[in-house]
Amino acid sequence: MLGRLNHVAIAVKDIAVAIRTYRETLGAEISEPQDLPEHGVRVVFVTLPNTKIEFLEPLGAASPIAKFLEKNPDGGMHHLCYEVGDILAARDALIAGGLRILGDGEPKIGAHGKPVLFLHPKDCLGTLTELEEV
Ligand code: CO
Repeated sequence: MLGRLNHVAIAVKDIAVAIRTYRETLGAEISEPQDLPEHGVRVVFVTLPNTKIEFLEPLGAASPIAKFLEKNPDGGMHHLCYEVGDILAARDALIAGGLRILGDGEPKIGAHGKPVLFLHPKDCLGTLTELEEV
């Protein structure tokens, strides 16, 4: 079911600081910031040769990463994203295997314009796990 590691996401309080650190200090190639109101985040992607790093900054008062940043004020690793070929087939197989899908269980459109789902971290080794259809 699982394909490539699409990205590792890091929650940050200040995306400008994160961009500066990665661009100027680590010499990374970084996308333009993108607001995703439906997900309550502003994102940028760092392009690496084999995968991407996603920085997430809270967008709006009800951002799902606000609580995470309260607990992790310096920021921290927030989730992993794996690619799948058929997100609905993957979802149904995971539910049949006893895993929980966050939200209403229906895929939303993610930062790459493709359908995404999140699995409950308690069912995935304590790690919030995203699936993206590619
Ligand atoms: Co993500």
